[in-house]
Amino acid sequence: MSMQETVKPPVRPGQEIEVTVHGLGSSGEGVARYEGLTIFVPGGAPGDRLLARVQEVKRNYARAALVQVLEPSPDRVTPVCPVAGECGGCPLQHIAYEAQLRLKRQQVVDALERLGKLSGVTVHPTLGMAEPWEYRNKAQFPVGWRAGRVIAGFFAPGTHRIVDIERCAIQHPVANRILAAVKELAGRYGVPIYDEGTHTGVLRHVLARVGRRTGEAMAVLVTNGPEFPHGRTIARELMARIPELVSVVQNINPVRTNVVLGRESRVLAGRDSITDSIGDLEFSISPVSFFQVNPAQTEVLYGKALEYAGLTGSETVIDLYCGIGTISLFLARQCREVIGIEWVEEAVEDAWENAARNGIRNVRFIAGDAAVEMPRLAAEGVRADVVVLDPPRKGCEEPVLQAIAQMAPRRVVYVSCNAASLARDLGRLAGMGYRTVEVQPVDMFPHTAHVECVARVEREGT
Ligand SMILES: C[S@@+](CC[C@H](N)C(=O)[O-])C[C@H]1O[C@@H](n2cnc3c(N)ncnc32)[C@H](O)[C@@H]1O
Repeated sequence: MSMQETVKPPVRPGQEIEVTVHGLGSSGEGVARYEGLTIFVPGGAPGDRLLARVQEVKRNYARAALVQVLEPSPDRVTPVCPVAGECGGCPLQHIAYEAQLRLKRQQVVDALERLGKLSGVTVHPTLGMAEPWEYRNKAQFPVGWRAGRVIAGFFAPGTHRIVDIERCAIQHPVANRILAAVKELAGRYGVPIYDEGTHTGVLRHVLARVGRRTGEAMAVLVTNGPEFPHGRTIARELMARIPELVSVVQNINPVRTNVVLGRESRVLAGRDSITDSIGDLEFSISPVSFFQVNPAQTEVLYGKALEYAGLTGSETVIDLYCGIGTISLFLARQCREVIGIEWVEEAVEDAWENAARNGIRNVRFIAGDAAVEMPRLAAEGVRADVVVLDPPRKGCEEPVLQAIAQMAPRRVVYVSCNAASLARDLGRLAGMGYRTVEVQPVDMFPHTAHVECVARVEREGT
């Protein structure tokens, strides 16, 4: 027998096993061990003793379905949502909120140690919400057709089977009303519903955006092509029915893809954007631009980012992955100059407009790929005292980190929605002479497995 031959796994599909959950996986599943093998059990809470049925066995781990809670964790609670177990949206609803915050901090600690190989970093307790419900200002629902009616909701975990929902407990109530109205109107007007399998039909997704402070709402109806039978009539009826709606937009996505939005948008009724405010700044948000989904916690997050930036008024700051310029504008009020970089052109247009709207002039925005623009700026001799970055989940490309090191800012503030890529990038920065001093987890997404973080990173020797 060769050394590489694998040992037979201790479980087989269909087998029922008793396990004790000791941690959470990156998607919020309970993690347990059985005869040395890691077992992932969705719906398990750390501290639970469970009966689970093995579904899938891999070399290093197995997945099992929860059959029965034999002894509940002290942190186990009854989910408020009737479809919590079925819908993939809130994998932590069965865990008490205080415990969720504790577990999220632990995920960050583990990622920094295991993936970033970092030690000596202070990880603060997660900053949570007082009322962790109805916090989302953006909803994104796939639309389907089942048993002769229009359904919409969330994909069940790991599938493209839509769990039809009436009301989502973490969405703004206006988003729930938009969803219900679109389902009813699409059914009434006989709009052909998109079928993923055959790539036919028209209506693919419904997006709702709500300005938390202004109350303004936008509905985006994503279609499979430019044709949208009764689109304008539906838009007018939506606006009449939901007074908060100031904008109904058709977004055209003809591509066979999991990406929700296409490149082209056209206004069906009302305006092409909504406004909202964070702190005392106002922002215009267009359908395809990124805007943080939890506005209450965004203030907490940006407050921490500003504190960690430690600005005195004289600095040049680069805000990488700046979206519509939200962080940039807060930074600009405390430093000499901000340069924002973002690759979605509509977002950059929003950013310029937002700067003008708020009377902020010491900021400029570059539309382009951070991995191209940042090395270009560094090569041109542009220097920053502080770099703030807030990349998408996959983190930063290597050229971005190298360009940061080349510019030699005294401080880097890294805002991240993914502890794993954060840890990897902080590890790389450590190799370039940048030491992570502290990390503040902020709970932007209660009841989900996601955790947002702000890290303060200092150049060695400063
Ligand atoms: C997590 S969002 C942060 C936006 C902003 N800082 C905020 O708080 O609203 C990440 C942003 O990076 C942009 N982005 C993703 N990859 C990029 C790249 N390679 N170059 C430039 N921008 C990118 C996305 O369009 C998005 O606006």
